[in-house]
Amino acid sequence: MNRLSIKYKGPLLGEITAPPDKSISHRAIMFSSLAEGQSIVRNFLQAEDPLRTLEAFRKMGIKIEYRTPNSEPRHTYNEIIIHGKGLYGLNAPKDTIDCGNSGTTMRLLSGILSAQAFSTSLTGDASLSSRPMKRVINPLTEMGAVIESANGFPPLRIRGGKLTPISYKSPVASAQVKSAIILAGLYCDGTTTVIEPGKSRDHTERMLKASGVDISVKDLDVSVRGVAALKPMEITVPGDLSSAAFFIVAGLIVPGSEIVIRNTGINPTRSGLIDVLNLMGADIKPENERLVSGEPVADLHVKHSRLKGMNIGGDLILRAIDEFPILCVAAAKAEGTTKITGAGELRVKESDRIASMAAELRKMGVKIEELEDGLIIEGQEDLSPAAAVSYGDHRIAMSMLIAGLTAKGETTVDNTDCVNTSFPGFMEILESLNQ
Ligand code: S3P
Repeated sequence: MNRLSIKYKGPLLGEITAPPDKSISHRAIMFSSLAEGQSIVRNFLQAEDPLRTLEAFRKMGIKIEYRTPNSEPRHTYNEIIIHGKGLYGLNAPKDTIDCGNSGTTMRLLSGILSAQAFSTSLTGDASLSSRPMKRVINPLTEMGAVIESANGFPPLRIRGGKLTPISYKSPVASAQVKSAIILAGLYCDGTTTVIEPGKSRDHTERMLKASGVDISVKDLDVSVRGVAALKPMEITVPGDLSSAAFFIVAGLIVPGSEIVIRNTGINPTRSGLIDVLNLMGADIKPENERLVSGEPVADLHVKHSRLKGMNIGGDLILRAIDEFPILCVAAAKAEGTTKITGAGELRVKESDRIASMAAELRKMGVKIEELEDGLIIEGQEDLSPAAAVSYGDHRIAMSMLIAGLTAKGETTVDNTDCVNTSFPGFMEILESLNQ
């Protein structure tokens, strides 16, 4: 599916289920591999990124089996069994671990590998190889790891060993950085603290607490005490708001649409997009709110709405960090101007998402001004069809496909294989709503 084309076919109608959460799927594999005994993970996201994490732990000697055949379509329900071998049970991998496109795999693994009694090499694809790693190298080096890199970029060579706890004031609000330090902190005698400039997603904290770890959260400070063992888990991964986001915005901007997105995670550290869209005038109703494995979840009822442009920054952007590309599409279809600031981190994601979205939406006739840390987007009634590209970035690809759905004529998006890093089955689900 390297080039996809899309055009308006009518309103989106019906019910879908959000695919499993990517962040939680990564963590479920990691934490249960380090636990003592057998864990059960249900509804694991079988997409390229979390599968990189799964393969990495298999390479380090962890037995991971599917109780349901993994030949089933990837977005159907599944159950996997992980035979954890304890915090010190990993074997040195025979060769380099390839993290593919996955920043979460590389950065969280760095924390774990920093405490192992062996050395490991981590590599990634072209996109991951241009993403900054000093943000994890610096604190982990302070704790005692020896990490070689290509001037702060992958590949990484990590020589683990005995670590000492630190109190680290992170210059960046990043769940990957926070989690890498917390994971290294599990291996320390004493308490490790991470202080963030803003609150990033808290799945690591929730899941480790459930695994018996003494972890405390006070505003922007997270402290963890070293432990002897993690308890195995039984977890059902909730749906991913970051994947549901494409359908939320599609439902809002395609005239006449009305859809329900079942089982969508609405963790408050992730739900900034819903808050922003509500402020822009969206009709999004969370129904049936509940907890799934300690994470808040709802069915989202979304109806076509007339959106209004607004100023967005600070905490709202941090809580919608992965939703920036699709938020730009919503802004392009809103009445008036939307100014997004405080989004500088978007420049170092799978692509420079500020530049990518500015370039691609301009092709559809949208007036956009690029700022160092955001965009000013003039909303308009009609988008022109365009020949868009993804920059190999899954969220740019899916955002441009949704934008194309509202244009008058056919839009193509090139280089769309990357959709499989987070959302295999995206096009089938979209088509199911557009019969
Ligand atoms: C993630 C954290 C975020 C997010 C990424 C997943 C995680 O990255 O963008 O898609 O699972 O911890 P940063 O930590 O770089 O903000």
